[in-house]
Amino acid sequence: MKDRLIGEARAAMARAYAPYSNFPVGAAILGEGGGIHAGANVENAAYPQGQCAESSAIGAMIMAGERRIREIAVMGGQPGDGLLCTPCGGCRQRLREFAAPGMTIHVCGPEGLRRSFTLEELLPHSFGPGNLAF
Ligand code: THU
Repeated sequence: MKDRLIGEARAAMARAYAPYSNFPVGAAILGEGGGIHAGANVENAAYPQGQCAESSAIGAMIMAGERRIREIAVMGGQPGDGLLCTPCGGCRQRLREFAAPGMTIHVCGPEGLRRSFTLEELLPHSFGPGNLAF
């Protein structure tokens, strides 16, 4: 399943709209119901209005009727750049809304998997829906 997710993230990356940064990113979520939901970054001439690939993928998941993330692959960067295209801080929190702290995030470059993390590793001591369950 990991390889399938990485393939879907690659296909999503190819559809990114990133004319300002020239940094296309693709993301593919495996939902707990078994669906795969992909998204790409969508930039805007009014720069702050741009949207990350993870946000697009979360929107696709919600519109498909799923509410829980089992696993995600994120792909960005250039072959051999030696960098990790980890989700930005805002997206770590967006993922937290729909995922358990142990959810796996596969960080990929165009050539494939570079490193896997749990959400908790990237967003320790997080605030989530449970904090508001009073
Ligand atoms: N970006 C993502 O879509 N996801 C990430 O994980 C990191 C950054 C996008 C935002 C912007 O369109 C471009 O990459 C450069 O920051």
